[in-house]
Amino acid sequence: MHSDVGSILFSEEQIAEAVKALGKRITADHAGKSPVIIGILKGSFIFMSDLVRNIDLDCELDFMIAKSYGNAAVSSGKVRVLKDIDTDIAGRDVIIVEDILDTARTLAAVKEILMERNPASIQICTLLDKVTTKKVSDLRADYKCFDVGDEFVVGYGLDYAERYRNLKYIGVLKREIYEH
Ligand code: IMP
Repeated sequence: MHSDVGSILFSEEQIAEAVKALGKRITADHAGKSPVIIGILKGSFIFMSDLVRNIDLDCELDFMIAKSYGNAAVSSGKVRVLKDIDTDIAGRDVIIVEDILDTARTLAAVKEILMERNPASIQICTLLDKVTTKKVSDLRADYKCFDVGDEFVVGYGLDYAERYRNLKYIGVLKREIYEH
């Protein structure tokens, strides 16, 4: 598993430090509020679990599984909700937690779906923001830990073909693994 990773971008320690700082910021920004924090599965599960333990607020947690399909060039595209949240978010402050914002297509569509339920606000929190020219939406992260280049990264929840999620660090997957 480790030998498939070309280089380590962020170590376990760097991630822990960034997640802690982000949790502090979210806590300060939402003082006195009780947000609903929604993790987008599966990629966000490790980030979400570390992040919420660094958020000192009376919050609620929920999860959603959404898969995007259709024309990649269409802003906000279409997503299929495979698992919806159980929480009523009407009038609530919502923070969506994502593993990586690539084209932003999935999150733009998820945000649109959740907006129809009349929350007080929706913010986006992503572990990684991919610096790419392929963004199809003007949706941007309100909170993020790190920027990454236009490369395929794995670890700390992020997968390639369901593997590598359990790596403690975030690394760049060697091209030969996904280009045959
Ligand atoms: P978007 O709709 O293009 O922003 O796609 C976001 C989703 O694609 C993420 O939630 C990931 O599941 C997946 N993804 C995009 N880039 C990577 C990557 O470099 N590594 C692993 N998954 C990725």
